[in-house]
Amino acid sequence: MNVSLSSSAAPLTPSAAPQRAAIPGSYGWPVIGPLADRLQYFWLQGPKNFFAKRMEKYGSTVFRTNVPPAFPFFAGVNPNVVAVLDVKSFRHLFDMELVEKSNVLVGDFMPSVNYTGGFRVCAYLDTAESKHSQIKDFAIDIIRRSSSTWVSSMATTLDDMWDSLESQLAAAGDGGSVNYIFPLQEFLFAFLSLNILGANASAFPEIKKSGHIMLDKWLAVQLLPTISINVVQPLEEIFLHSFSYPFWLVKSDYEKLASFVETGAGEAVRRAQTEFKLTKEEAIHNLIFMLGFNAFGGFSLFFLSLLGNLGEQEPSVHEELRREVREKLSNNVLSFETVKKMDLVNSFVYETLRLDPPVPQQFARARKDFDLGSHNAVYEIKKGELLCGFQPLVMRDPKIFENPEDFVYNRFSKVKGGDELLEYLFWSNGPQTGTPGPSASNKQCVARDAVPQTAAVFLAYLFQRYDEISISSGSITALKKAK
Ligand code: HEM
Repeated sequence: MNVSLSSSAAPLTPSAAPQRAAIPGSYGWPVIGPLADRLQYFWLQGPKNFFAKRMEKYGSTVFRTNVPPAFPFFAGVNPNVVAVLDVKSFRHLFDMELVEKSNVLVGDFMPSVNYTGGFRVCAYLDTAESKHSQIKDFAIDIIRRSSSTWVSSMATTLDDMWDSLESQLAAAGDGGSVNYIFPLQEFLFAFLSLNILGANASAFPEIKKSGHIMLDKWLAVQLLPTISINVVQPLEEIFLHSFSYPFWLVKSDYEKLASFVETGAGEAVRRAQTEFKLTKEEAIHNLIFMLGFNAFGGFSLFFLSLLGNLGEQEPSVHEELRREVREKLSNNVLSFETVKKMDLVNSFVYETLRLDPPVPQQFARARKDFDLGSHNAVYEIKKGELLCGFQPLVMRDPKIFENPEDFVYNRFSKVKGGDELLEYLFWSNGPQTGTPGPSASNKQCVARDAVPQTAAVFLAYLFQRYDEISISSGSITALKKAK
């Protein structure tokens, strides 16, 4: 298989000067345009088709459109964006000289700060704000410190999860299956609390039992106006996408989580105050957001895709991955160092992040007027315009990725030179390789390296433990333990 850049690839800096062009597309009539686009986005087309159809219609990866939420109760929200849907145009979102990221995590719409203790937490701050540097440095420090316990605590927590899934599967009998969504989230909550907060959830019975559900509800209620579910239309448009939900629906859960962080993560909170000059309240609410939104929310989506993709692969792919894991682990314990050597496992993880980026959309606002280049043309962007990148399409850019729609598990294999493609893997709001990596002067996810490594550990653990794993529609259908 050829894993080099697609042979049709246009260089990212073409030799011939690209043509200037006006940005195609329009925002339509006030009220009617945004409403029509909202209905197409959520209901008639779905987000991926919404962007794909317009890309086709305009013959351009850059165009103007509206994105939800819109009408009737989002009066202050401006739905107008410039979509950027190829690798080259999307990369402008990382250039902090050209764009700013104040309050645009999920678009022009921002959930009420009541959901975050009254604070604009790190992900809503622009790099020009000094508070961003303080919190980002704190987050980077958390990831660095926890790296020594990350894998061992993960393995212990995974033991509990798989022991429990195995006994449930045995109890279900022949032909039975066991859903893994909530067990996976319980595992994530326990393991991420230990590593991000330094807090043992087992010491807090109500949190241990329901912490993951509390976070699910908190995430859902604040993000509803922007999430497509598309199962109960038109009720969804009328009741879920027409107004923002009030914080009081999840207030009591949020207060319990805040008290868990204050007590259980005392050391991290103190460090935030002494070393990073945050107030106690800023530390607590940023920690809840990092745990709940960034880490738990991100991993919940990512690990569901990872297991889903594993379920869809041929037994021969499982066999190849299993062989690699067991060979590399023969004289070693599971660690970040050992999984780094698992070329195919890492490629499988990266391919999942390419096709199913857990955070599909990124936004950024032009800091000044500038020229934005796509593969085909150069467009004029005006200060204040909002750019919207939709990663599921950007990561299928045919000029970069050969057979872009296919899940090619060894696409990123180092042995085959596929690691060159990591420069174009953007799930973390920045490239997967290269310097500077996540820092206070950019908006890249602090866990750019920890996330894929954690997924590689997760897969390696599975292939070490089982000779056979069958997965179908969110359920485990068969497990055969390694002899
Ligand atoms: C699968 C898991 C994860 C995914 C998919 C993910 C994804 C992302 C993305 C896309 C962004 C940029 C958002 C934007 O500005 O548009 C981001 C930012 C961030 N992530 Fe992650 N993340 C994950 C795990 C984590 C973990 C474990 C942490 C640990 C604390 C973390 C902390 C952060 C922080 C603090 C930011 C804000 C960066 C800034 O404001 O400069 N993330 N993440």
